[in-house]
Amino acid sequence: MPPASIKEVAQHAGVSLGTVSNVLNRPEMVAEATRRRVLDAIAELGYVRNDSARQLRAGRSRTIAIVVLDVANPFFTDVVRGAEQVIEAAGSMLVVCNSGENAAREDRHLELLEEQRVGGILITPVADDRQPVLKRLIDRGIPVVLVDRGAGTANRCSVAVDDELGGRLAVDHLLERGHRRIAYVGGPFGIAQVADRHAGASAAVAGIPDADLIVAETPNLTVASGRDAARRLVTRPMGKRPTAIFCANDLLALGVLQEVTTRGLRVPDDMAIVGYDDIEFAGAAAVPLSSVRQPREQLGRTAAELLLEETRDGADHQHRHVVFQPELVVRQSSRQALIP
Ligand code: RIB
Repeated sequence: MPPASIKEVAQHAGVSLGTVSNVLNRPEMVAEATRRRVLDAIAELGYVRNDSARQLRAGRSRTIAIVVLDVANPFFTDVVRGAEQVIEAAGSMLVVCNSGENAAREDRHLELLEEQRVGGILITPVADDRQPVLKRLIDRGIPVVLVDRGAGTANRCSVAVDDELGGRLAVDHLLERGHRRIAYVGGPFGIAQVADRHAGASAAVAGIPDADLIVAETPNLTVASGRDAARRLVTRPMGKRPTAIFCANDLLALGVLQEVTTRGLRVPDDMAIVGYDDIEFAGAAAVPLSSVRQPREQLGRTAAELLLEETRDGADHQHRHVVFQPELVVRQSSRQALIP
């Protein structure tokens, strides 16, 4: 049975539609006895207020969306947790959309969010060339904040981590431990974070004459792709096999760890491993993983604060690009120096 309408409530209580609206929105304007009659009618009929229609008439919903690359990646779980703390404290609601690192899926989510007149969008775009799609939303008045991605000079706020520095920290650490044949596992390189981390890794080896950075590109940033990349790397001839692997995120690193240990190699003695994000499972792994830490919940909180600022400031808003510094957390998977 469909929920009762506001018209049925008015008829049941013997009042006008305007009186019911006043009870819902300006109860102080309605006499106590009348207010009580209307509230009793609402309870008896099971009337449910259609807040989305009211919000839409007001121009835009109070619902905020976050579009993440991979809902199965704990990195995004932590980012969402930070964002929702801020969004819910402001009396709004956060909905999560998963692009699955797929541009067509991301487009469908963005179109639906536009139709729902969502109040703002936090997004980690699938690729750097998504700007035209995001620009269309912004031109239609939907505030957009990039998460885990710098926006450069684009007309939107962004929160990110200095991923080039993060890549450099990871590989400098491995070089300092004596490694010279180091692999970088990550992909696709259309994701700016993957490319930036590689750029930092490349800069680290550039200064070391006998150092070599082997790239094992992956189709996505999952555990399974980490296993596959490790399989390709450990089956190289001994003289060409890396002694250390730096991964674009911790899911890849967990897949590398699983494949390497399944093949009987010791970590870090035969293969050192470093990940990126420092999700909870990195430290909890069978061989605790070294990882480049991103301030995940802080990324989410800050992105949400920037979005709420923009919705409050309107045309006066000054876009900001917040960049956090990464931190290398060294654990058992790379702590030991290379045994020559
Ligand atoms: O946002 C792209 C990638 O960067 C994600 O996989 C996440 O792990 C972060 O490190």
